[in-house]
Amino acid sequence: MAEEPETEPEIEARLPEQDSFEPPESFVEQANVTDDPRDEFDENWPQCWENAADKLDWFDGYDEVLDDSDAPFYEWFVGGKLNACYECVDRHVEDGRGDATALSWEGEEGETREYTYEELLDEVQAFAAGLRDVGVEEDDVVTMYMPMVPELPIAMLACARIGAPHNVVFAGFSADALRTRMENASSDFLVTCDSYYRRGEKLDHKKKADRGAPDEATKIVVGRFERYVPTDGEYAYRELVTRHEGASVEPVERDAEDMLFLMYTSGTTGTPKGVKHTTGGYLSYAAWTSHAVLDLKPEDTYWCAADIGWITGHSYIVYGPLSLGTTSLMYEGAPDYPTKNRLWEMVEGYGVDVFYTAPTAVRAFMKWGTEHPESHDLSSLRLLGTVGEPINPRAWKWYYRYIGGEDCPIVDTWWQTETGGMMVTTLPGVDEMKPGSAGPPLPGIDARVVDESGDEVDAGDAGYLTVHKPWPGMLRTVYGDDERYLSEYWETYSDEDADEWVYFPEDGAKIDDDGYITVLGRVDDVVNVSGHRLGTMELESSIVGVEGVAEAAVVGGEHDVKGEAVYAYVIVEEGQDTDDTFREEIVDAVEDDIGPFARPEEVVFTDALPKTRSGKIMRRLLEDIASGDELGDTSTLRNPDVVKDIERKLEK
Ligand code: PRX
Repeated sequence: MAEEPETEPEIEARLPEQDSFEPPESFVEQANVTDDPRDEFDENWPQCWENAADKLDWFDGYDEVLDDSDAPFYEWFVGGKLNACYECVDRHVEDGRGDATALSWEGEEGETREYTYEELLDEVQAFAAGLRDVGVEEDDVVTMYMPMVPELPIAMLACARIGAPHNVVFAGFSADALRTRMENASSDFLVTCDSYYRRGEKLDHKKKADRGAPDEATKIVVGRFERYVPTDGEYAYRELVTRHEGASVEPVERDAEDMLFLMYTSGTTGTPKGVKHTTGGYLSYAAWTSHAVLDLKPEDTYWCAADIGWITGHSYIVYGPLSLGTTSLMYEGAPDYPTKNRLWEMVEGYGVDVFYTAPTAVRAFMKWGTEHPESHDLSSLRLLGTVGEPINPRAWKWYYRYIGGEDCPIVDTWWQTETGGMMVTTLPGVDEMKPGSAGPPLPGIDARVVDESGDEVDAGDAGYLTVHKPWPGMLRTVYGDDERYLSEYWETYSDEDADEWVYFPEDGAKIDDDGYITVLGRVDDVVNVSGHRLGTMELESSIVGVEGVAEAAVVGGEHDVKGEAVYAYVIVEEGQDTDDTFREEIVDAVEDDIGPFARPEEVVFTDALPKTRSGKIMRRLLEDIASGDELGDTSTLRNPDVVKDIERKLEK
């Protein structure tokens, strides 16, 4: 007879009660880092970052660790020469590890593929030759718009090999979003895919790619299920690779500061920003943090259940783990397809050692019930991680108890697209863990919590997270827009006259007496939906683009699984119906302009928006309404009645 699922109180009763946890002894015994290097890094800053650079085999050593003469346009490992593909592939083959598995892949329907480092090297060289064949030259930006298939990391590595920066656009983005990113990056090449399955449904990805790509773009198309037959101006990936089978393509020597890739992300202002990452600093930082925080070792099977279309996948599916010679597991599909056991079947089947995911996933696992992880042997796991949004203590404890079996440390890693790698987190073999708090800054990272005037806040008080020293993985600029780089990240807290530069990530935070930082969330107009960063301005401009909409305000409201959900408050033009058809039209517009993952949870039609007497929309109030929170003082409003009206509509 099947066992009855546990009840909520039973699950709750089995969660650990304490507020802090020591790293398990069994983990410490084999951890990569067991002595806290923070003091040593502080005393020896910036030379301490040689620890990161030493994770790589440079073609030519660098002359200087940090050049800060043109701050905040910092340069790292100046004069050094390397190739990111060589670091991630060739050198492991040269070291005799050609037979070790580099990539293990599983498709949603259950197909599997595996590439040893040797096989990866062959395929990457063949595709690199193919890229050259279709006209890609060093420094050309190549865009990739494809789902989680092995050809994606292969294409990234092939680009890195020939010195062509990549620009990966998440496959869930719309055609319009693809176009904006290709145009901004002046990218004439697109590697894409014909179709893929998502929850059993076949999606025509090529159609979106065709609509989004500029007409003159050269396309290379991966046939996901069958041979792709190219039309004019297109190439089939497989044909190119077959044509160049056995090719030997030397990895080009790149300067440490040469661009490795661009990644677009959202901020307060309308258009997405092209975050520029370089070869030497980024790769050293990805490798060092994978070693120190994810504790990766070459013999590990490691699974980061993110998508390569976001920075987490770049740093911690591709560059970090492969630079360390680890086996990186990739999964194409949904975590609950065909059943809610999928992930645990995979952890058990592949013997996953280290698992890294987003808190939104953990909250979904909690909802699905303990019977799924409990019916699988998860004892191969030795370390768990989270990224992308704050994790509430209850979800942390659930993850610790039901996935980690109270035997795996959890690293709650705070970082951003712009930081390139992890910045604030515990070191798993060193630091005590406090659920809900990411932890202290990593060695060499000078992160603080300050008030509006830049003074450090007292322990327990809320303030703004700031970073007071540069680090190798940092972005170098906003592509093509140095002014925006300065104004978005540096202007708020830096003192230019004193040459004191402070990076502002636009997150709110608190710090405790032990220096542990709890990140509270964005303080700019960005919503974090399931760990996806969405600019409210982008959403608003999409909504006001719909005929019949007069004004719109978008905010994030608390959501028990997604963290935040998109709430759109919309004022329509006179005569416009506010029925479900029009609501659907608005939702469709957001899907078309950005992508399905940005769909508003609620579209609330209202006659007015709450505004101050000076006419500013009170966003905080709209957020509180969306989250169902107590509303504070509304007496400063010009139109207090509107608040009640909106609340009433949302209750329905
Ligand atoms: O608000 C912070 C949140 O995610 C933002 C960065 O988003 P993105 O550039 O898309 O990168 C996500 C993956 C690195 C941050 O500004 N964030 C990220 N990690 C955490 C977090 N908030 C709280 N705790 C975290 N561990």
